[in-house]
Amino acid sequence: LTTLISASLSGYASAESMTVGFSQVGSESGWRAAETSVAKSEAKKRGITLKIADGQQKQENQIKAVRSFIAQGVDAIFIAPVVQTGWEPVLEEAREAKIPVFLLDRAIVVKDKSLYMAVVTADNVYEGKLIGDWLVKERNGKPCNVVELQGTVGASVAIDRKKGFAQAITGAPGIKIVRSQSGDFTRSKGKEVMESFIKAENNGKNICMVFAHNDDMAIGAIQAIKEAGLKPGKDILTGSIDGVPDIYKAMLAGEANANVELTPDMAGPAFDALEKFKKEGTVPPKIIKTESRLFLPADAQSQADKKTGMGY
Ligand code: AHR
Repeated sequence: LTTLISASLSGYASAESMTVGFSQVGSESGWRAAETSVAKSEAKKRGITLKIADGQQKQENQIKAVRSFIAQGVDAIFIAPVVQTGWEPVLEEAREAKIPVFLLDRAIVVKDKSLYMAVVTADNVYEGKLIGDWLVKERNGKPCNVVELQGTVGASVAIDRKKGFAQAITGAPGIKIVRSQSGDFTRSKGKEVMESFIKAENNGKNICMVFAHNDDMAIGAIQAIKEAGLKPGKDILTGSIDGVPDIYKAMLAGEANANVELTPDMAGPAFDALEKFKKEGTVPPKIIKTESRLFLPADAQSQADKKTGMGY
């Protein structure tokens, strides 16, 4: 349900020549770089000035950036929050300054949800579940030892993807997570953690599948599997989330098995909602949900072709 309120009465600025400050997580993954690039082009299309601050995966940097945007008097603030807790004080400062805040791609935990206007996000529990459901179907009653490469500790998307995958495999007694550790959403840490999983699990022979919370970690894991003399996609199945071009390449090479696409266009829906709010006073729904779909190797070529012009 949308509610109409008067933007001018509430004290927010008008829609003309807006400046938006975007506190970005960092540049940890291919998906993240695409999200930044789409945000820039979506801002340009609308004549909005976009100021981007790279948080280098640290909440303290993001909080500093938000404070600086408040001091500059921007018209709105976008935050892709690295972790889900600890945002109240700075969001209260933004509210005090009458600056609307939109969250991109990750959610936060706050008692007072009016501290932000809306969050543009996928259903990340569902994304994890899609991969888990695929695995259960793929194994068709056979057992499977899964190793899990988690995203950044404390990030809503890592918590939710873990939960969704666990839910999906609950009904399949032979399928279990034998090891789970954070690879911080990066290719290098994904590889490093996968190497340690392989060493600990009889040179990888006890591992049936790697569930990586994003593609970059999956690509790092694929490298580690190859270096251990095993075949990714065959000896060890892979499932991951994002839909970056490299994962489709891996699928086409038979080295990756299942993937859930996450759109890098999180800023577009946020700009739309912001513009409507500024022009008409329309308050957006609290959650602006993006679509998540599972893709398999048969879809890899068309998916790879589709990615051109999507920030990759
Ligand atoms: O919050 C979205 C996640 O963050 C993406 O899946 C991952 O690649 C990024 O680091």
